[in-house]
Amino acid sequence: MKRLFNLMLIGLLMVTIAACEKQAKTESSADKAAEQERQTEDVEAAEQTENNLPDWEEQQSQIQEDDNTVTGNIFFNFGTKTVLLNSGYEMPIYGIGTYSLTGDTCVESVTTALNKGVRLIDTAYMYHNEESVGEAVRNSDIPREEIFVITKLYPNQFSDPEAAIEESLAKLDIDYIDMMLLHHPGTGDVEAYHAMEKAVADGKIRSLGLSNWYVKELEEFLPQINIMPALVQNEIHPYYQENDVIPYIHSLGIVVQGWYPLGGRGYTAELLGDEVISEIAAAHGKSSAQVILRWNLQKGVVVIPGSSNPDHIQENTELFDFELTEEEMARINDLDRGEKHDWY
Ligand SMILES: NC(=O)c1ccc[n+]([C@@H]2O[C@H](COP(=O)([O-])OP(=O)(O)OC[C@H]3O[C@@H](n4cnc5c(N)ncnc54)[C@H](OP(=O)(O)O)[C@@H]3O)[C@@H](O)[C@H]2O)c1
Repeated sequence: MKRLFNLMLIGLLMVTIAACEKQAKTESSADKAAEQERQTEDVEAAEQTENNLPDWEEQQSQIQEDDNTVTGNIFFNFGTKTVLLNSGYEMPIYGIGTYSLTGDTCVESVTTALNKGVRLIDTAYMYHNEESVGEAVRNSDIPREEIFVITKLYPNQFSDPEAAIEESLAKLDIDYIDMMLLHHPGTGDVEAYHAMEKAVADGKIRSLGLSNWYVKELEEFLPQINIMPALVQNEIHPYYQENDVIPYIHSLGIVVQGWYPLGGRGYTAELLGDEVISEIAAAHGKSSAQVILRWNLQKGVVVIPGSSNPDHIQENTELFDFELTEEEMARINDLDRGEKHDWY
């Protein structure tokens, strides 16, 4: 009996050992398979990474090529020469200003600019040339959506902003207004802005902005409105730089545009003849105007120089084949005199 029991025990032991061996074999082959799978995955991942590398490099070099992240969350794309506004629309970072250009001179200047690749036009009710700007836009072969027109309501229009908006739409006659600004702070500006907000909802205006609003004015104004301005247009040139204001506006996700970039009529000779600017211009084989405009762009400021001279209009588009060094930027920054060239 005892022998029989021992025999059974040995049998059971052998069966158990065999089962364990089998399991061990199964496990090791499972391990092997898993290891193999892992290795295959690694190779595939490595191959994938390799395949992805050129894309990534392309993206990186694109970013470097496109250049310049500026302060706050404003990114100028130097490749497409545009900036994405907080309204969702893209706006060119250089254009033409039309202050003091009227009638045929305005139509011709804007037409020349459009023919030379300019797609951003700045006008205003107060410039008495919205009709001329509209005429040039309508006469061009360029699709409407490729042109960005900014106009402005003047404070004397704030008492009946709805009528003022309709007047601008009628004078421009270009289906819609890409951007409307309030020209200056003034009585009724909040109500006027609300009327522009309504016009955005109605599809008459695409983006909104303010002009001649500084830090204090923005702090007071912004809590009273619903649509964040996409742009603030203020006086900016090497003798009046607004270095305290620009970063604040950028930090709000608002694009900054400079008026009087060349100092404004009556002041251009001194600015364009400035020793520092002339020296930097000579070093790059560019004009003083181009250096000033490029300095603006590298600071994240959109430029709208005014001109009726075809050569100047052409010159003011050639801003993307050179770059100012940090030292050159600093030298121009040092020219700031806090010298305003207009009252607002
Ligand atoms: N929101 C506001 O309160 C406000 C106020 C003022 C102006 N703005 C806007 O800002 C725009 C720009 O201001 P602005 O036109 O008065 O002044 P600006 O652009 O500083 O200077 C215009 C002057 O510069 C000359 N100029 C242009 N390009 C030149 C170049 N490449 N080389 C040499 N000279 C050149 C022009 O003469 P030529 O015609 O001979 O080229 C003109 O005399 C205005 O047109 C307007 O749209 C807005």
